[in-house]
Amino acid sequence: MAESHLVTHIGVLTAGGDCPGLNAAIRGVVARATAQGHSVSGIEDGWQGLMGGRVRPLGRDDVRGILTRGGTILGTSRTDPYVHGDGLASLIPALTATGIDSVVVIGGDGSLRTAARLGEEGLAVVGVPKTIDNDIEGTEVSFGFDTAVQIVTDAVDRLTTTAEAHNRIMLVEVMGRQSGWIAVHAGLAGGAEAILVPEDDYDLDDLACRLVARHNSGRDYSIVIVAEGVRGPSGSRVTMGTDHGGFERLGGVSAVIAAELEARTGYETRVMILGHLQRGGTPTAFDRVLATRMGIRAAEAVIDGDHGMMVACLGSDLILVPLTSAVAVPRLVPGKRLAELDWFLA
Ligand code: F6P
Repeated sequence: MAESHLVTHIGVLTAGGDCPGLNAAIRGVVARATAQGHSVSGIEDGWQGLMGGRVRPLGRDDVRGILTRGGTILGTSRTDPYVHGDGLASLIPALTATGIDSVVVIGGDGSLRTAARLGEEGLAVVGVPKTIDNDIEGTEVSFGFDTAVQIVTDAVDRLTTTAEAHNRIMLVEVMGRQSGWIAVHAGLAGGAEAILVPEDDYDLDDLACRLVARHNSGRDYSIVIVAEGVRGPSGSRVTMGTDHGGFERLGGVSAVIAAELEARTGYETRVMILGHLQRGGTPTAFDRVLATRMGIRAAEAVIDGDHGMMVACLGSDLILVPLTSAVAVPRLVPGKRLAELDWFLA
């Protein structure tokens, strides 16, 4: 543990795609730090706000009433100081002007990778993992994931009754760029007939045969969960272009797969792309608790001088892991978890 500051001025930012629990985490940072006399400033719109000096003080009263709110009171962006600026040098003017001496970054894999790099350049930084995709290797779970799984499970429950009424195959496309955690958990919870994830290849002919066998055996409908990062039948990812920052927008692979399945099975096949529904609204109790605890732990890490670390969940404990190792590789669904699905799928 490095030497601690007597009184520290923490800047907190949220970066990357939003997810339920961000406000709970911000509240945790502010409550913990201010209770001990440290000050906190909120940085608006992620790294973009720090590069532009858009910073406002955050006291305990500023974070009342936000625990249950989705989104982020600070705003977010995918601006990266290494892509859109000169790395740490682009942040120095705002850090100097505001007196912020340390930064808590609440972000996903991209933002935490940036944080790790800034840490190596000398920024006093602590990371908090957030992502509905649950794909950050350093932690067993990230907040936002539980809420997304619950939203998808509720949707699958509803889609099952209408699929059954019409004897249809229903493809449900969920988020998950590189990992199929949401697909696997919601598919298991919702009793899906097939789950397609980026970690595993699929065989359309084999899948069609299995669905036909199921329909012929009296269960004349099927739910198939498809993670957005799954490759299409041609072998490439299906995208809807890029966003304003040039970030690839995934989505639509389920429609391509649905057409192929319909042609092979003869069953009417429909598609539901859940998209941003999975990230909106109030966090589950689990995510509120996890995000709050992670925010508190991040403030403690800063106060203790444990810079360059990320808060991580290990069982029910929160530990600190080096940011550089936490973001080195994505957290994928392991083969043994995928094997468990074999007992239930069509
Ligand atoms: O990385 C999290 C995530 O939710 C991905 O699953 C998804 O592909 C991406 O964000 C979409 O981001 P946005 O809605 O900001 O374009």
